[in-house]
Amino acid sequence: MIVSRTYEEFAQHRDGLKGSIGFVPTMGALHEGHLSLIRRAREENENVIVSIFVNPTQFLAGEDLDKYPRREEADRRICELAGVDLLYMPGVDQIYGADELCIGAPKLRGYILEGARRPGHFDGMLQVVMKLLNLSRADRAYFGKKDAQQLILIEQMVRDYFMTVNVVGCEIVRDPDGLALSSRNVYLSEEQRRRALSLSRALKRAGKLVQSGEMASAKILAAMEAILLPEVDELEYVAVVDRAFRPLERIETGNSIVLVAAKVGTTRLIDNLWV
Ligand code: PAJ
Repeated sequence: MIVSRTYEEFAQHRDGLKGSIGFVPTMGALHEGHLSLIRRAREENENVIVSIFVNPTQFLAGEDLDKYPRREEADRRICELAGVDLLYMPGVDQIYGADELCIGAPKLRGYILEGARRPGHFDGMLQVVMKLLNLSRADRAYFGKKDAQQLILIEQMVRDYFMTVNVVGCEIVRDPDGLALSSRNVYLSEEQRRRALSLSRALKRAGKLVQSGEMASAKILAAMEAILLPEVDELEYVAVVDRAFRPLERIETGNSIVLVAAKVGTTRLIDNLWV
């Protein structure tokens, strides 16, 4: 595995790769969720590139940029074992210059739910993903459904800007108890982790309701709230949207996402279910 820290090094090694390229952008503190993306990229491509970059522009003032978990050595070993060919770990100066041209999230679907709670987050996310996709010139790029709105906005950016990369959405990986894996789970105490399980429990309940024929979003969301409110410290939103992120009054099977965002302690958690 080659590790590059500068743009020049990376570009040189990238140019040396022959055959198809699968790319997995991450912010590090790698867990089984990231690994599932890397494994899929490994299966479907001749070369695998991973990037680890804690992107400052997608953190809002007061968020956890400074304490975001950084585990360079462990991450590097994980990538090596997973058969990654090229690992890019740039510094901020390798990605950003002064007075940059910026692309922005779409005004409607980029500013609801996560976008409303974290205004500007998706602008910074799309800015760095555009850069990383162009740098890697990958055939396929792998993203988790865990960050559903992120995935849908990246798909839109690729369409709107006539980019040629294939965006591959990957299933959510969970701990055996149901908690969706996240680099931020390390912030949770044991007691908070127990309460954090209410997110996946609420989504499971939503799934059961849909299975039993309940399609009214209001009913599903009320059932979720009943599970969540006694457990979480702040329920930010529960929502049902279609796969273009338009709010839905009724579930459309095969085209719906049920979402939840909540704080447990000071840790912000998101989870969702594609139905
Ligand atoms: P990060 O949070 O490190 O996540 C990297 C990728 O792993 C994302 O596509 C995310 O959806 C996926 N992922 C995280 N947890 C997952 C889980 N439990 N199951 C499946 N996939 C999971 O998302 C980002 O970084 C950044 O916004 C990034 C796209 C790298 C741009 O900075």
